[in-house]
Amino acid sequence: MEHKDDGMMNMKTTRDVVRGLKDVAAAETKISYVDPMGVLYYLGYNIDDLMGNVIYSEVAYLLLHGILPNKRELDAFCAKIISQMRLPREVEECIKCSPKHAHPMDVLRTEVSRLGEFDVEGKDFTDEANRRRAIRLIAQVPTIVAAFHRSRQGLPILYPKEDYSFAENYLYMFKGHRPSQDESDVLQRLMILHADHGFNASTFAARVTASTNSDMYSAVTTAIGTLRGPLHGGASEKVMEMLDDIGLEEEVEEYIQGLLDDHKKIMGFGHRVYKVEDPRTKHLRCIVENLCHKDRTMSLYNKCLQIEGIVHDRKSIYPNLDFYAAVAMDALGVPKEFFTPFFCSSRISGWVAHIIEQYEDAVLLRPSSNYVGEFGRKFVPVEQR
Ligand code: CMC
Repeated sequence: MEHKDDGMMNMKTTRDVVRGLKDVAAAETKISYVDPMGVLYYLGYNIDDLMGNVIYSEVAYLLLHGILPNKRELDAFCAKIISQMRLPREVEECIKCSPKHAHPMDVLRTEVSRLGEFDVEGKDFTDEANRRRAIRLIAQVPTIVAAFHRSRQGLPILYPKEDYSFAENYLYMFKGHRPSQDESDVLQRLMILHADHGFNASTFAARVTASTNSDMYSAVTTAIGTLRGPLHGGASEKVMEMLDDIGLEEEVEEYIQGLLDDHKKIMGFGHRVYKVEDPRTKHLRCIVENLCHKDRTMSLYNKCLQIEGIVHDRKSIYPNLDFYAAVAMDALGVPKEFFTPFFCSSRISGWVAHIIEQYEDAVLLRPSSNYVGEFGRKFVPVEQR
């Protein structure tokens, strides 16, 4: 720490600034670990061991309770989530009144905030109430997304069915028909891979809000606004714009080299933590390969492989979660402006777990900054300026 006299009787304290908080550990967490060498753990479980062996609700339970549920606990948890998917009538009415051209992320951010107004537990901020609130949010974020998708097309909002799984209900309420087993399997996998990821920007933002002892809806609203940016979860929408823009497989080389020549970032590539390939990418690549094979859209898959190769050769970076997730969501029939809302629909389980962990830590997250502005300016009244 260095003290500098600015010559105006002020002492200026300077510290080393860690730009972008790179590698700064802001707190301790037991929820997930992002190993730079390409492994992701949820509560100590390698995601490679979870994929294909659990459903998303099982992961949500794990994130919230710290342990995997037994069969009875899982059935009860799934039934609870499905029973809570319906939105308060007032929130549903507001979704119907949202402008059709509004970005779904605007609607999601606003309606999650509105859910706070209609919380049945009001100002009960005990741990038990927060855990019940967390389950309601896990259940209702997808419902907001699905309801806006329907209402902006002038279609009636659909309600969850008790005999459908959570993933089936989500796709049913979004698309208007019961999904096939394959479609709901793909959604389960996507949701598991998106559920949590250490101290990413939106989770950190949620924890900052929670650290002031603010309510869970405020913290989740903060997180949604943060996830939306194209350097974070908003990247997937940009990936699809790029893939649509490229057109033919033969155009990939020139298009991508051109962007790199212009020092532009290729969306869906690079990562702050991973030094090797993002461990979620292999699962997503495999999902996309199967979907493209089935839909006879192998040229789209080939385009993705080509982009991977060029970006790796030029920049030595790998695709992140958002690259192949965009293609998978497109194959599921999700319009690109709903990609980030789908991301929120899964990450909500990680956010609420982190918010609860932050409440338990009970410390205000408040960093400092190095002031580089002026001191000692002479005040001049407004009439004399
Ligand atoms: N395309 C081209 N070059 C890149 C990219 C990219 N996508 N990402 C990083 N680089 C280069 C960057 O230009 C820089 O090169 P140089 O050292 O020659 O100037 C170097 O790699 C380091 O990049 P950085 O931006 O300083 O790294 P960061 O850790 O601050 O950024 C990142 C990480 C994810 C913001 C960045 O890789 C990026 O902007 N990627 C594109 C957006 C994206 O896909 N975001 C999703 C992130 S992961 C999932 C999620 O959170 O949703």
